[in-house]
Amino acid sequence: DLIARALIKPGDPVVVETPSYLGALSAFRAAGARLLGVPMDREGLRTDVLERLLIRYRPQLIYTLPTFQNPSGRVMSLERRQTLLSLAQRYQVPILEDDPYGELYYDEPPPPPLKSLDRQGHAIYLSTFSKILFPGIRLGWLVAPRPVVDRLASIKQYTDLHTNTLAQWAVTEFIHRGWLDSHLATLRREYPRRRRAMLDALRDLTPHGLYWNEPPGGFYVWCRLGQGLRSRELLTEAVRRRVVFVLGEPFYADGDGQDTFRLNFTYHSERDIQEGIRRLSQALATLRRGRRKRPAIQPGEARPIV
Ligand SMILES: Cc1ncc(COP(=O)(O)O)c(C=O)c1O
Repeated sequence: DLIARALIKPGDPVVVETPSYLGALSAFRAAGARLLGVPMDREGLRTDVLERLLIRYRPQLIYTLPTFQNPSGRVMSLERRQTLLSLAQRYQVPILEDDPYGELYYDEPPPPPLKSLDRQGHAIYLSTFSKILFPGIRLGWLVAPRPVVDRLASIKQYTDLHTNTLAQWAVTEFIHRGWLDSHLATLRREYPRRRRAMLDALRDLTPHGLYWNEPPGGFYVWCRLGQGLRSRELLTEAVRRRVVFVLGEPFYADGDGQDTFRLNFTYHSERDIQEGIRRLSQALATLRRGRRKRPAIQPGEARPIV
């Protein structure tokens, strides 16, 4: 939000991945940005499409989540990172790199952040403790050229004066005592088990016609329904069985993605994950049979499992 307010004026074009983190899309929209979506392939954001947009629209900012993207779980390859940086340099556009999940790798470590490859100072790096400590901490950090930091600090001052100092002190102490590293090691041991439980359950329990990724890190399994089904209808059936997920549509700048949804594998035990996917697959089977006779359950009526 601070960056959107610092860098974007109403009507400015901003490049985002398709799909992309919905919180950022909302912040850019609130600043009046015109969002330009760029599709991704197996190596991340498609820089060939990006270059055409850079030439045509001269955007103000490129927003990317290169590592364990929210929601798709994808990782941008090293080569693509280098191409992206050289495009930013050629067309003189800043890159906003949002990286809350980079420490949560379950196989091998991901390629280095764009910021660490950036020799020209085009990248602004953002991260947060929300995903590696706990969501309520609301504490993040950024790495940016000095003039950008100064500008953001002054916007921060008139927005909310400063971030809670007690939380900053507690996290600093946590890191100095070496607890963050051991906590990360625990997460890197535990989360892949939960990921495996979810992927195995999806493979064993869901009927044909549901597609998903196998994320090498992060929090999410990104799913797509086949056969013209819509995630919103699946959600209605799933909530009746006390399972919820996040609809995919809000992650698309252009309102697409009605057949997509996001599952999170980090919060629940392996047993609950398996049970949640079993119920999800029943919901899907019911949807397929077109048996939606009862009215949709009201929000808050059921406690979610996944
Ligand atoms: C890509 C991305 N950026 C930022 C955030 C939010 O971080 P914070 O809780 O520090 O505001 C999230 C949380 O979902 C996220 O996925």
